[in-house]
Amino acid sequence: MKIIMLGAPGAGKGTQAQMIADKYGIPHVSTGDIFRANIKEGTALGMEAKEYMDQGLLVPDELTVRILLDRVAREDCGDGYVLDGFPRTIPQANVLDEALEKLGDKIDYAIDVDVPDDNIVRRMSGRRACLACGATFHIENVPPKKEGICDRCGTELVLRDDDREETVQKRLDVYHEQTQPLIEFYRSKGILEVVDGMKPMQEVFADITAILGTAAE
Ligand code: AP5
Ligand code: MG
Repeated sequence: MKIIMLGAPGAGKGTQAQMIADKYGIPHVSTGDIFRANIKEGTALGMEAKEYMDQGLLVPDELTVRILLDRVAREDCGDGYVLDGFPRTIPQANVLDEALEKLGDKIDYAIDVDVPDDNIVRRMSGRRACLACGATFHIENVPPKKEGICDRCGTELVLRDDDREETVQKRLDVYHEQTQPLIEFYRSKGILEVVDGMKPMQEVFADITAILGTAAE
């Protein structure tokens, strides 16, 4: 099963993608997490991506597409995957479609996690991220068991550099301009599903599993 998560920054794509990955036993592939891991390790790719990310801008398609296609070609993606934060532009979506077509394959579901803009900024300021394993917490909604420490891998949690309020606003503008058109793109292909991301996260997840059903279990 191949799934794309759509939604504004902070809508809960990463939170839901991780839950889907755990339940259905498929990898959670987040381009944002891949970039952040590279920044943490100080790689050339990380340095290049950071310039864009810190300004709330998208990393250029050419670089992002290369990273993503490499990742999904790995063996663990053979039975499917859940993409979180990719595609983010129509050209990225077209490249993904073409790459899958060559393999006689396709995306099964594009799930849009819908949250109005005014709720986004509030969510972001409370988010704490693990840059080592990609886990996400929230100081009020999803506190870690031990304050400031990742439940999954024990690494110290941080406020992401791009979660400052002015950068969040820029990311929202970029989302509306470049990424939101993907909703119509996937609707026209007949694979779009929309869930209400304002519900508590377990309820959002229940709505998603009702859509995915037992197909991949
Ligand atoms: P990326 O890492 O993808 O960031 P994003 O899209 O801005 O999304 P976020 O990770 O901020 O939010 P999310 O929807 O995953 O929400 P989360 O689950 O954490 O990308 C970062 C940057 O990398 C981009 O700006 C760009 O520069 C670059 N990039 C990445 N991919 C790219 C691409 N394809 N092309 C070009 N550039 C790319 O939830 C948010 C918070 O809310 C958490 O604290 C969570 O605990 C809480 N929460 C979640 N669900 C709920 C709920 N139902 N109720 C209450 N709280 C909730
Ligand atoms: Mg995320």
